[in-house]
Amino acid sequence: MTRPARLKRGDGCGYLRAVHSPAPGAAAAHCLVVDDDAQVRHSLARVIEAHGLSTLEASSGTEALAILERQGEVPLVISDIYMPEMDGVTFLREALRRYPDMAIVMLTGVAEVTTAVGCLKLGALDYISKPVLVEEVRARVDKALEKRDLVLQNRFYQQHLESRVRELDRRNKQALVNGVQMLVHALEAKDAYTSGHSTRVARYAVKTAVQLGVTGDRLEHIRLGGELHDIGKIGTREDILNKPGPLTTDEFQHIKGHAALGERILAPFLAESQAVLRITRSHHERLDGAGFPDGLAGDAIPSEARIVAVVDAFDAMTTNRAYRPSRTPEDAVQELRRCAGTHFDPAVVEAFLRAFSDVSALPISI
Ligand SMILES: [Fe+2]
Repeated sequence: MTRPARLKRGDGCGYLRAVHSPAPGAAAAHCLVVDDDAQVRHSLARVIEAHGLSTLEASSGTEALAILERQGEVPLVISDIYMPEMDGVTFLREALRRYPDMAIVMLTGVAEVTTAVGCLKLGALDYISKPVLVEEVRARVDKALEKRDLVLQNRFYQQHLESRVRELDRRNKQALVNGVQMLVHALEAKDAYTSGHSTRVARYAVKTAVQLGVTGDRLEHIRLGGELHDIGKIGTREDILNKPGPLTTDEFQHIKGHAALGERILAPFLAESQAVLRITRSHHERLDGAGFPDGLAGDAIPSEARIVAVVDAFDAMTTNRAYRPSRTPEDAVQELRRCAGTHFDPAVVEAFLRAFSDVSALPISI
């Protein structure tokens, strides 16, 4: 059985070179060997060179830092622990502070194992016990470089993944906005009288919500809910949508279906925006429970839907419809006030009037 080669004081470079020829196509990577014992340092450097890495040598932590300063970071450092001027632990701390991506392996005597373990806690990737086995050096060098590669790869993937996720999120949101606009245009092409209605409702709703203290994502959901609240009318028959006269009971029942249908259309796309779905389903609920589709009353009606109910009614009253001409904004305000507490949430009506103190300027032009 062949005995493993050991590096020890007095080992010459020639011996090691004779045993280990350089790996073909040696990599351009560097290894810095730091040891105050010149013979151990040289011998170790030769083993590492034979393993395919070019080496630099330093006799102390101070010299090692100067070399790194001069020549830049190296992938791997093997450092003794006990050295004059600057010991290995101090060097380890300082080197990792300056070059956190370097792989540092400590060289340690049997009596220094506790210190070496402490070095692992400080960020050293491994330690090699003296006296050093040549095969162990090779294995530890490979392992340390592999660990460093993994750390760098993980960081790269993490950074890359984060930016990829951000990009996908941005694209998803843009796709959603595009889809929303397409749906709104499809609806408005079908019902000429509601042209601009969705956008006005969205703008009225956001300004009213601000008056009620709504902020952040909820505001965006209210804006989107305003745009989409009537999307279920895509499923409403055009002859009923554009009927000039009064509706029969059956026709009215058919129109009422748009609230629940809108929620069903949007649910697959807006699972994370429940407020939008609540607005779509519940914007025709009334405070007294006489609304549709669920007959909710009071606080059971989602607050976002109570906001859209008020501004939807205001915009419907102040624009021409197939079945009646528009009313003046002052008339519409009077109607909102008259119905506050029965049909509409009074706090929302007041917030709307604070948001648009000069109603004569309404409806806003799109
Ligand atoms: Fe509606």
